[in-house]
Amino acid sequence: MPPLLQVENLRTYFHTPRGIAKAVDGVSFQVEQGKTLAIVGESGCGKSITALSLLQLVPEPAGYIEGGRILFEGRDLLDLTWDQMRRVRGDDIAMIFQEPMTSLNPTFTIGYQLVEAMTMHGKFTGAQARQRAKDLLARVGLQDPAQALRQYPHELSGGMRQRVMIAIALSNEPKLLIADEPTTALDVTVQAQILALIRDLQREQNMGVLLITHDLGIVAETSEEVAVMYAGQIVEYGPTSAIFHEPRHPYARGLFASLPARGRRGQDLATLEGIVPPPTAWPPACRFEPRCAYRWDTCAQVPPKYHPADSDRPVRCHLYDPEIADRPARGAAPIAKEPVAPDPTVEAAR
Ligand SMILES: Nc1ncnc2c1ncn2[C@@H]1O[C@H](COP(=O)(O)OP(=O)(O)O)[C@@H](O)[C@H]1O
Ligand SMILES: [Mg+2]
Repeated sequence: MPPLLQVENLRTYFHTPRGIAKAVDGVSFQVEQGKTLAIVGESGCGKSITALSLLQLVPEPAGYIEGGRILFEGRDLLDLTWDQMRRVRGDDIAMIFQEPMTSLNPTFTIGYQLVEAMTMHGKFTGAQARQRAKDLLARVGLQDPAQALRQYPHELSGGMRQRVMIAIALSNEPKLLIADEPTTALDVTVQAQILALIRDLQREQNMGVLLITHDLGIVAETSEEVAVMYAGQIVEYGPTSAIFHEPRHPYARGLFASLPARGRRGQDLATLEGIVPPPTAWPPACRFEPRCAYRWDTCAQVPPKYHPADSDRPVRCHLYDPEIADRPARGAAPIAKEPVAPDPTVEAAR
């Protein structure tokens, strides 16, 4: 059986006045049935554009999928017609966005939108859908589901709207849920409830989940695997426990350094310095090189391999590549501690 979702060498670019922005630039990963893959990384690394690409919702006309394959149950979604793709969305694959207010229609009641989502795909009749709508709202933790059905989006709090979005996303029992920062705007208690709900439904329905988050605590609790994204690429990919205990890529080490180091091997440098460059100006070799405390000359000249021989998991870093003759011994002290100052002309262009 093919994996539920297999993404191969996905590239999503934007035309911009400053040239081509390579927002997603050769990304590969897979999500298995019933499992969760987390994509983590700072803001601007291409996580949301990756998610939008899967459903072909990249903002047009500036954005376009330049290449790659998006295999869902073995068939390439990029080969589907617009109509076929529309059926996949919301039926087989559902998505929870970062901004709930923008994805609910302000002119229709919650009940209408929820019922519409279910009957549109023909899985449920009107009567079934109305009953299910009430049940789903109760499950996502709304106190008075009957009343919520009659309300308009603006009458609900942000937390309630996000729960409604989750109810809509789950209403057709999708095989894959894409959740992009699903709980970022919510307080901690609601956050925990929503994550628990997603987990329960995942178990009941054997749903695969692609979770995008910058909250590493959530990753530890929910995900079997992690992909660390930087500057449009995956720089480290593997089992959650392995990456938490021993992040290898200097960027991953920086991200995970903010967590308590219990049980982690090796010494980490302090938090990440510098900022993600704009996607029209990725550094030419290693994209993390200007910010990397372990860098040496080769890093600015030779693009690192994704899966070098000295690592049992993908790590896009010369430190793990025995073919890079001048690499320092691993565990050696960092070469330079100060990040390269951002190029002021690039900064002005942002
Ligand atoms: N409509 C657009 N036009 C041009 N560039 C865009 C557009 N949308 C996103 N981008 C660029 O794509 C990059 C990745 O964005 P995004 O996927 O939203 O990052 P993340 O979700 O990791 O914070 C950003 O640097 C942004 O500048
Ligand atoms: Mg995002």
